[in-house]
Amino acid sequence: MSLLVTGSIATDHLMSFPGRFSDSLVVEQLDKLSVSFLVDDLEVRRGGCAANICFGLGNLGLRPVLVGAVGEDFVDYRAWLERHHVDCSSVHVSETRHTARFVCTTDKDMAQFASFYAGAMTEAREIELQPIADRVGGATYVLVGPNDPEAMRRHTQECRERGIPFLADPSQQLAFGDGELIRDLIDGADILFSNEYESALIEKKTGWSAAEVLDRVGTWVVTLGADGVRVERSGQEPIVVAAVPEIEKVEPTGVGDAFRAGFLAALEWGLSHERAAQLGCLLAVYVVERVGTQEYTLHQSEFVQRFADTYGEQAAAEIAAHVKTPRP
Ligand SMILES: Nc1ncnc2c1ncn2[C@@H]1O[C@H](COP(=O)(O)OP(=O)(O)OP(=O)(O)O)[C@@H](O)[C@H]1O
Ligand SMILES: [Mg+2]
Repeated sequence: MSLLVTGSIATDHLMSFPGRFSDSLVVEQLDKLSVSFLVDDLEVRRGGCAANICFGLGNLGLRPVLVGAVGEDFVDYRAWLERHHVDCSSVHVSETRHTARFVCTTDKDMAQFASFYAGAMTEAREIELQPIADRVGGATYVLVGPNDPEAMRRHTQECRERGIPFLADPSQQLAFGDGELIRDLIDGADILFSNEYESALIEKKTGWSAAEVLDRVGTWVVTLGADGVRVERSGQEPIVVAAVPEIEKVEPTGVGDAFRAGFLAALEWGLSHERAAQLGCLLAVYVVERVGTQEYTLHQSEFVQRFADTYGEQAAAEIAAHVKTPRP
Protein backbone atom coordinates (compact mmCIF):
# COMPACT_ATOMS: atom_id res chain seq x y z
CA MET A 1 0.00 0.00 0.00
CA SER A 2 1.32 3.43 -0.90
CA LEU A 3 0.49 7.07 -0.60
CA LEU A 4 -0.50 8.67 -3.91
CA VAL A 5 0.34 12.37 -4.17
CA THR A 6 -1.43 14.18 -6.99
CA GLY A 7 -0.83 17.79 -7.96
CA SER A 8 1.44 20.16 -9.79
CA ILE A 9 4.95 19.33 -10.98
CA ALA A 10 6.79 22.42 -12.19
CA THR A 11 10.03 24.33 -12.31
CA ASP A 12 10.61 27.98 -11.43
CA HIS A 13 12.94 30.04 -13.61
CA LEU A 14 13.91 33.09 -11.62
CA MET A 15 15.93 35.97 -13.01
CA SER A 16 17.19 39.19 -11.46
CA PHE A 17 17.42 42.44 -13.34
CA PRO A 18 19.95 44.80 -11.72
CA GLY A 19 18.07 47.98 -12.83
CA ARG A 20 14.50 49.26 -12.57
CA PHE A 21 11.80 48.14 -14.97
CA SER A 22 10.12 51.51 -14.58
CA ASP A 23 13.14 53.27 -16.14
CA SER A 24 12.47 51.39 -19.41
CA LEU A 25 8.72 51.91 -19.56
CA VAL A 26 7.30 54.79 -21.57
CA VAL A 27 3.79 55.29 -20.30
CA GLU A 28 2.44 56.88 -23.52
CA GLN A 29 3.79 53.95 -25.59
CA LEU A 30 2.47 51.04 -23.52
CA ASP A 31 0.25 49.88 -26.40
CA LYS A 32 3.47 49.22 -28.37
CA LEU A 33 5.32 47.75 -25.40
CA SER A 34 8.38 45.75 -26.41
CA VAL A 35 11.27 45.68 -23.98
CA SER A 36 13.99 43.21 -23.15
CA PHE A 37 15.94 43.21 -19.92
CA LEU A 38 19.49 41.97 -19.68
CA VAL A 39 19.43 39.91 -16.50
CA ASP A 40 22.48 38.88 -14.56
CA ASP A 41 21.19 35.78 -12.83
CA LEU A 42 19.10 32.74 -13.71
CA GLU A 43 18.12 30.24 -11.08
CA VAL A 44 16.15 27.14 -11.99
CA ARG A 45 14.36 25.59 -9.03
CA ARG A 46 12.50 22.36 -8.82
CA GLY A 47 8.99 22.76 -7.53
CA GLY A 48 5.33 22.00 -7.95
CA CYS A 49 3.32 21.05 -4.88
CA ALA A 50 3.08 17.31 -5.54
CA ALA A 51 6.77 17.05 -6.32
CA ASN A 52 7.71 19.05 -3.20
CA ILE A 53 5.55 16.85 -0.97
CA CYS A 54 6.97 13.66 -2.50
CA PHE A 55 10.51 14.96 -2.07
CA GLY A 56 9.81 15.48 1.64
CA LEU A 57 8.28 12.03 2.08
CA GLY A 58 11.20 10.42 0.25
CA ASN A 59 13.64 12.21 2.55
CA LEU A 60 11.89 10.75 5.59
CA GLY A 61 12.28 7.22 4.22
CA LEU A 62 8.93 6.62 2.54
CA ARG A 63 8.32 5.79 -1.09
CA PRO A 64 5.46 8.05 -2.23
CA VAL A 65 3.90 7.73 -5.67
CA LEU A 66 3.96 10.97 -7.62
CA VAL A 67 0.87 11.47 -9.80
CA GLY A 68 0.78 14.36 -12.26
CA ALA A 69 1.53 15.37 -15.83
CA VAL A 70 4.84 16.60 -17.26
CA GLY A 71 6.53 17.14 -20.63
CA GLU A 72 9.40 15.27 -22.25
CA ASP A 73 11.77 17.75 -20.60
CA PHE A 74 11.12 16.00 -17.25
CA VAL A 75 14.17 13.69 -17.61
CA ASP A 76 16.57 15.41 -15.17
CA TYR A 77 13.85 16.24 -12.68
CA ARG A 78 12.63 12.63 -12.74
CA ALA A 79 16.15 11.35 -12.01
CA TRP A 80 16.46 13.78 -9.10
CA LEU A 81 13.15 12.70 -7.56
CA GLU A 82 13.90 9.01 -8.06
CA ARG A 83 17.24 9.48 -6.31
CA HIS A 84 15.15 10.77 -3.40
CA HIS A 85 12.90 7.69 -3.20
CA VAL A 86 9.98 9.03 -5.20
CA ASP A 87 8.12 6.55 -7.41
CA CYS A 88 7.72 8.44 -10.72
CA SER A 89 6.52 5.47 -12.80
CA SER A 90 2.96 6.76 -12.99
CA VAL A 91 3.77 10.32 -14.03
CA HIS A 92 1.99 11.09 -17.30
CA VAL A 93 4.29 12.43 -20.02
CA SER A 94 2.70 14.72 -22.58
CA GLU A 95 3.73 14.28 -26.20
CA THR A 96 3.13 17.89 -27.10
CA ARG A 97 3.51 20.19 -24.09
CA HIS A 98 6.36 21.13 -21.78
CA THR A 99 6.35 20.69 -18.03
CA ALA A 100 4.60 23.55 -16.21
CA ARG A 101 6.91 26.50 -15.69
CA PHE A 102 6.89 29.70 -13.70
CA VAL A 103 9.13 32.37 -15.22
CA CYS A 104 9.76 35.50 -13.21
CA THR A 105 12.11 38.45 -13.46
CA THR A 106 12.57 40.66 -10.43
CA ASP A 107 14.18 44.10 -10.56
CA LYS A 108 16.18 45.83 -7.83
CA ASP A 109 13.01 47.37 -6.34
CA MET A 110 11.44 43.88 -6.19
CA ALA A 111 9.01 44.73 -8.99
CA GLN A 112 8.22 41.59 -10.96
CA PHE A 113 7.23 40.42 -14.40
CA ALA A 114 6.01 36.85 -14.16
CA SER A 115 4.22 34.26 -16.26
CA PHE A 116 2.95 30.81 -15.42
CA TYR A 117 2.75 28.26 -18.21
CA ALA A 118 0.51 25.35 -17.18
CA GLY A 119 1.56 23.27 -20.20
CA ALA A 120 1.45 19.53 -19.65
CA MET A 121 -0.34 20.03 -16.33
CA THR A 122 -3.65 20.36 -18.19
CA GLU A 123 -3.28 16.70 -19.18
CA ALA A 124 -3.45 15.61 -15.54
CA ARG A 125 -7.21 15.39 -16.08
CA GLU A 126 -6.56 12.30 -18.24
CA ILE A 127 -5.08 10.35 -15.32
CA GLU A 128 -7.09 7.57 -13.70
CA LEU A 129 -6.02 6.62 -10.18
CA GLN A 130 -7.26 3.04 -9.92
CA PRO A 131 -4.60 1.50 -12.25
CA ILE A 132 -1.92 3.34 -10.28
CA ALA A 133 -3.30 2.10 -6.97
CA ASP A 134 -3.41 -1.43 -8.40
CA ARG A 135 0.21 -1.23 -9.54
CA VAL A 136 1.43 -0.39 -6.02
CA GLY A 137 -0.86 -2.77 -4.13
CA GLY A 138 -3.48 -0.20 -3.10
CA ALA A 139 -3.58 3.38 -1.87
CA THR A 140 -3.55 4.26 1.84
CA TYR A 141 -4.51 7.82 0.90
CA VAL A 142 -4.68 10.00 -2.15
CA LEU A 143 -3.65 13.60 -1.63
CA VAL A 144 -5.42 15.92 -4.06
CA GLY A 145 -3.13 18.92 -4.28
CA PRO A 146 -3.28 22.07 -6.44
CA ASN A 147 -3.34 21.06 -10.08
CA ASP A 148 -5.35 21.47 -13.24
CA PRO A 149 -8.82 22.15 -11.72
CA GLU A 150 -10.48 19.46 -13.86
CA ALA A 151 -7.87 16.96 -12.68
CA MET A 152 -8.53 17.90 -9.05
CA ARG A 153 -12.22 17.39 -9.55
CA ARG A 154 -11.74 14.07 -11.34
CA HIS A 155 -9.31 12.68 -8.72
CA THR A 156 -11.66 13.68 -5.89
CA GLN A 157 -14.68 12.13 -7.56
CA GLU A 158 -12.80 8.93 -8.35
CA CYS A 159 -11.74 8.61 -4.71
CA ARG A 160 -15.26 9.20 -3.51
CA GLU A 161 -16.79 6.70 -5.96
CA ARG A 162 -14.19 4.02 -5.32
CA GLY A 163 -14.04 4.54 -1.57
CA ILE A 164 -10.35 5.52 -1.53
CA PRO A 165 -9.60 7.83 1.43
CA PHE A 166 -8.50 11.24 0.19
CA LEU A 167 -6.86 14.35 1.58
CA ALA A 168 -7.97 17.71 0.22
CA ASP A 169 -5.20 20.27 -0.29
CA PRO A 170 -6.60 22.85 -2.71
CA SER A 171 -4.27 25.72 -1.58
CA GLN A 172 -3.52 28.09 -4.47
CA GLN A 173 -6.50 26.87 -6.47
CA LEU A 174 -8.87 28.29 -3.84
CA ALA A 175 -8.28 31.71 -5.33
CA PHE A 176 -9.36 30.42 -8.73
CA GLY A 177 -12.16 28.02 -7.81
CA ASP A 178 -15.78 28.98 -7.29
CA GLY A 179 -17.91 27.74 -4.40
CA GLU A 180 -19.26 24.79 -6.35
CA LEU A 181 -15.77 23.47 -7.21
CA ILE A 182 -14.42 24.00 -3.71
CA ARG A 183 -17.37 22.26 -2.06
CA ASP A 184 -16.81 19.36 -4.42
CA LEU A 185 -13.09 19.17 -3.61
CA ILE A 186 -13.42 19.04 0.16
CA ASP A 187 -16.68 17.22 0.86
CA GLY A 188 -15.87 13.82 2.33
CA ALA A 189 -12.11 14.30 2.64
CA ASP A 190 -10.38 12.47 5.49
CA ILE A 191 -8.24 15.53 6.06
CA LEU A 192 -8.45 19.09 4.76
CA PHE A 193 -5.23 21.14 4.70
CA SER A 194 -5.15 24.93 4.52
CA ASN A 195 -3.38 27.92 5.97
CA GLU A 196 -5.31 30.52 7.98
CA TYR A 197 -6.06 32.77 5.07
CA GLU A 198 -7.23 29.84 2.97
CA SER A 199 -9.51 28.74 5.83
CA ALA A 200 -11.34 32.03 5.63
CA LEU A 201 -11.49 31.73 1.84
CA ILE A 202 -12.98 28.23 2.12
CA GLU A 203 -15.72 29.45 4.45
CA LYS A 204 -16.45 32.46 2.28
CA LYS A 205 -16.56 30.61 -1.03
CA THR A 206 -18.36 27.44 0.10
CA GLY A 207 -20.83 29.33 2.28
CA TRP A 208 -20.24 26.68 4.97
CA SER A 209 -19.39 27.72 8.52
CA ALA A 210 -16.24 26.29 10.11
CA ALA A 211 -18.43 23.80 11.98
CA GLU A 212 -20.09 22.73 8.73
CA VAL A 213 -16.73 22.24 7.05
CA LEU A 214 -15.60 20.11 10.00
CA ASP A 215 -18.72 17.99 9.73
CA ARG A 216 -17.83 17.19 6.14
CA VAL A 217 -14.13 16.40 6.63
CA GLY A 218 -12.74 14.16 9.34
CA THR A 219 -9.93 16.50 10.32
CA TRP A 220 -9.01 20.07 9.41
CA VAL A 221 -5.33 20.96 9.62
CA VAL A 222 -4.78 24.72 9.63
CA THR A 223 -1.17 25.92 9.42
CA LEU A 224 -0.44 29.22 11.16
CA GLY A 225 2.91 30.22 9.66
CA ALA A 226 5.52 30.92 12.33
CA ASP A 227 2.87 30.23 14.99
CA GLY A 228 2.67 26.54 14.10
CA VAL A 229 -0.48 24.59 13.39
CA ARG A 230 -3.94 23.77 14.70
CA VAL A 231 -5.55 20.37 14.13
CA GLU A 232 -9.33 20.34 14.50
CA ARG A 233 -11.85 17.52 14.71
CA SER A 234 -15.56 17.90 15.08
CA GLY A 235 -16.63 17.84 18.73
CA GLN A 236 -13.07 17.69 20.05
CA GLU A 237 -10.64 20.18 21.53
CA PRO A 238 -8.22 21.36 18.83
CA ILE A 239 -4.59 20.22 19.06
CA VAL A 240 -2.22 23.18 18.78
CA VAL A 241 1.45 22.56 18.03
CA ALA A 242 4.09 25.31 18.07
CA ALA A 243 6.47 25.74 15.14
CA VAL A 244 10.12 24.77 15.44
CA PRO A 245 12.23 27.89 16.09
CA GLU A 246 14.18 28.71 12.96
CA ILE A 247 17.94 29.14 13.02
CA GLU A 248 17.67 31.76 10.29
CA LYS A 249 14.79 32.78 8.10
CA VAL A 250 15.93 32.68 4.50
CA GLU A 251 12.89 32.11 2.29
CA PRO A 252 9.53 30.54 3.13
CA THR A 253 8.39 29.28 -0.30
CA GLY A 254 7.36 25.64 -0.03
CA VAL A 255 6.93 25.48 3.75
CA GLY A 256 3.33 24.37 3.37
CA ASP A 257 4.34 21.44 1.16
CA ALA A 258 7.10 20.33 3.54
CA PHE A 259 4.65 20.51 6.43
CA ARG A 260 2.28 18.19 4.57
CA ALA A 261 5.09 15.73 3.85
CA GLY A 262 5.97 15.50 7.53
CA PHE A 263 2.35 15.22 8.58
CA LEU A 264 1.63 12.47 6.05
CA ALA A 265 4.74 10.49 6.93
CA ALA A 266 3.65 10.26 10.57
CA LEU A 267 0.16 9.30 9.44
CA GLU A 268 1.60 6.48 7.31
CA TRP A 269 3.50 5.26 10.36
CA GLY A 270 0.28 5.15 12.37
CA LEU A 271 1.30 7.93 14.79
CA SER A 272 -1.05 10.44 16.43
CA HIS A 273 -2.16 13.73 14.89
CA GLU A 274 -0.05 15.54 17.46
CA ARG A 275 3.12 13.71 16.33
CA ALA A 276 2.11 14.29 12.71
CA ALA A 277 1.75 18.04 13.29
CA GLN A 278 5.12 18.13 15.07
CA LEU A 279 6.89 16.25 12.31
CA GLY A 280 5.27 18.57 9.76
CA CYS A 281 6.55 21.63 11.63
CA LEU A 282 10.04 20.17 11.86
CA LEU A 283 10.33 19.39 8.17
CA ALA A 284 8.89 22.80 7.28
CA VAL A 285 11.55 24.68 9.21
CA TYR A 286 14.27 23.11 7.04
CA VAL A 287 12.62 24.79 4.05
CA VAL A 288 12.42 28.18 5.82
CA GLU A 289 16.18 27.96 6.29
CA ARG A 290 17.00 27.43 2.58
CA VAL A 291 16.40 29.13 -0.72
CA GLY A 292 14.28 26.73 -2.77
CA THR A 293 11.84 24.03 -1.80
CA GLN A 294 13.91 20.88 -2.43
CA GLU A 295 17.34 22.02 -1.27
CA TYR A 296 17.57 20.62 2.26
CA THR A 297 19.48 17.50 3.27
CA LEU A 298 18.44 15.62 6.38
CA HIS A 299 20.85 13.94 8.78
CA GLN A 300 19.22 11.29 10.98
CA SER A 301 20.81 12.10 14.34
CA GLU A 302 20.57 15.88 13.96
CA PHE A 303 16.95 15.61 12.77
CA VAL A 304 15.83 13.43 15.68
CA GLN A 305 17.77 15.62 18.13
CA ARG A 306 16.08 18.75 16.85
CA PHE A 307 12.71 17.03 17.24
CA ALA A 308 13.60 16.11 20.84
CA ASP A 309 14.84 19.63 21.63
CA THR A 310 11.48 21.08 20.53
CA TYR A 311 8.92 18.46 21.46
CA GLY A 312 10.63 16.25 24.06
CA GLU A 313 12.53 12.97 24.14
CA GLN A 314 9.49 10.74 24.38
CA ALA A 315 7.83 12.19 21.30
CA ALA A 316 11.17 12.04 19.45
CA ALA A 317 11.50 8.33 20.23
CA GLU A 318 8.22 7.63 18.42
CA ILE A 319 9.55 9.40 15.34
CA ALA A 320 13.01 7.85 15.57
CA ALA A 321 11.48 4.38 15.38
CA HIS A 322 10.35 5.08 11.79
CA VAL A 323 12.23 7.94 10.19
CA LYS A 324 15.07 7.09 7.82
CA THR A 325 16.81 10.12 6.39
CA PRO A 326 19.38 9.91 3.55
CA ARG A 327 22.39 10.73 5.80
CA PRO A 328 23.35 9.27 9.22
N1 LIG B 1 9.06 31.41 10.17
C1 LIG B 1 8.80 30.13 10.44
N2 LIG B 1 9.53 29.47 11.37
C2 LIG B 1 9.30 28.18 11.64
N3 LIG B 1 8.36 27.43 11.04
C3 LIG B 1 7.59 28.03 10.12
C4 LIG B 1 7.76 29.40 9.76
N4 LIG B 1 6.86 29.71 8.80
C5 LIG B 1 6.16 28.57 8.59
N5 LIG B 1 6.59 27.57 9.36
C6 LIG B 1 6.06 26.17 9.43
O1 LIG B 1 5.49 25.84 8.18
C7 LIG B 1 4.10 25.48 8.35
C8 LIG B 1 3.32 26.00 7.16
O2 LIG B 1 3.43 27.41 7.13
P1 LIG B 1 2.31 28.37 6.50
O3 LIG B 1 1.10 28.34 7.36
O4 LIG B 1 2.98 29.68 6.27
O5 LIG B 1 2.00 27.62 5.12
P2 LIG B 1 1.55 28.23 3.71
O6 LIG B 1 0.94 29.57 3.90
O7 LIG B 1 0.72 27.18 3.07
O8 LIG B 1 2.93 28.37 2.96
P3 LIG B 1 3.28 28.25 1.40
O9 LIG B 1 1.98 28.05 0.67
O10 LIG B 1 3.99 29.52 1.09
O11 LIG B 1 4.18 27.07 1.31
C9 LIG B 1 3.70 26.06 9.68
O12 LIG B 1 2.69 25.26 10.25
C10 LIG B 1 5.02 26.00 10.47
O13 LIG B 1 5.18 24.72 11.04
MG1 LIG C 1 0.36 26.85 1.04
